[in-house]
Amino acid sequence: MTHLLGLEGLSAAELSAILDDAGRYVGVGYGDAPKGDALKGKVVANLFYEPSTRTRLSFGLAARRLGGDVVDFSPGGSSTAKGETFIDTAKNIEAMGVDAVVVRHSSPGAPHVLARHLKPHVRVVNAGDGPHEHPTQGLLDILTVRRRLGRVAGLTVGLVGDIAHSRVARSNIHGLLTLGAKVLVCGPPTLVPPDVARLGVEVAHDLDAVLPRCDVLNLLRIQFERQRTGLFPSVREYQLLFGMNGERMRLAKPDVLLLAPGPINRGVEVTPEVADGPNSAILDQVANGLAVRMAVLARLCRPG
Ligand code: NCD
Repeated sequence: MTHLLGLEGLSAAELSAILDDAGRYVGVGYGDAPKGDALKGKVVANLFYEPSTRTRLSFGLAARRLGGDVVDFSPGGSSTAKGETFIDTAKNIEAMGVDAVVVRHSSPGAPHVLARHLKPHVRVVNAGDGPHEHPTQGLLDILTVRRRLGRVAGLTVGLVGDIAHSRVARSNIHGLLTLGAKVLVCGPPTLVPPDVARLGVEVAHDLDAVLPRCDVLNLLRIQFERQRTGLFPSVREYQLLFGMNGERMRLAKPDVLLLAPGPINRGVEVTPEVADGPNSAILDQVANGLAVRMAVLARLCRPG
């Protein structure tokens, strides 16, 4: 693996190998536990052109817990304000001697552009390219399912909400289908792309009707920042039809696993009682994300 640009096209063996590595990295370097050394002498550059909390911090921490160095770039306060282009910025950071670039950008394909323009030894990781893919989020969601439920194949995973604008949905779809899960996407018709069924998922618009069949629900945030027009009548209507709340939980399997990539809009996709309740694995996802990012960086920066 030279770069990690998406989960589309990765085989079940490749996905499983990363997940197995990640399972071994859970807890490494945490508290008094010894650090790893897979990134000793390596420099990871975080290039985040869109806001981030979990992804950015966990990539930085992952690199440090493996003995690497981190440089952080955000466009605010940088020469982007003077008109420097994306590629020039990346090439200048590369010239400082970085080994891997973790990039988040609003344009789909931005990480692929860097992979073509940077020197061949520099590894590129997609940390979210517009609505396209967010591969480490897909991996950490799947790792959380695997660790909580012991398997992925044969499970029914419901992705709920703004499928159209969600890079998390796309990475989940590719990873989960390859690993043998059944994927069901559910949201208002305006937020579900008409051709998504071609990927091999079931499409539903009535959450209450499909809820009893789901082993896992991934509650996606409405990507208000990516919507140019109002795609549903009101947040209130969305809450009523698609928000997970205590009443709706009664329709679900008692041990249904609830995921949300974060940030959550409390009270919109999920009520606080459910987000903080016993079925929620939201904070486990964050911990597992660190392990996934360690596994990905270590694998990409491996010598030879
Ligand atoms: C997601 C993202 O940025 O795509 N967040 C994340 O990385 N944890 C999901 C979102 O913003 O809704």
